[in-house]
Amino acid sequence: MNLRMHRGLVDEDEVVIEVDGHTVSGRRGDSVAVALLTVGISTLRHSPRLGAPRGIFCLMGSCQECLVIVDGHRRLACETVIEAGMSVRTTELP
Ligand code: FES
Repeated sequence: MNLRMHRGLVDEDEVVIEVDGHTVSGRRGDSVAVALLTVGISTLRHSPRLGAPRGIFCLMGSCQECLVIVDGHRRLACETVIEAGMSVRTTELP
């Protein structure tokens, strides 16, 4: 599922990243969170106690629910801008 609009947008710069072994395309300036949401990825990890799915909530760096592994480092998906060749791992964090 790709929710991205393809017509009527000025900036069409495509940036390709790798997410859990899959290729995902975003646009220059997108955050990791936006790039993942536009292809239908909303679960980024599971809660440590109940195993409940966790994902994007505040989109402003406050809730910490969007933690992912980016190129081997813990990052907030909503605060990290995608870069070509970036490797993102979801669901590896408790
Ligand atoms: S969505 Fe809340 S910190 Fe990223």
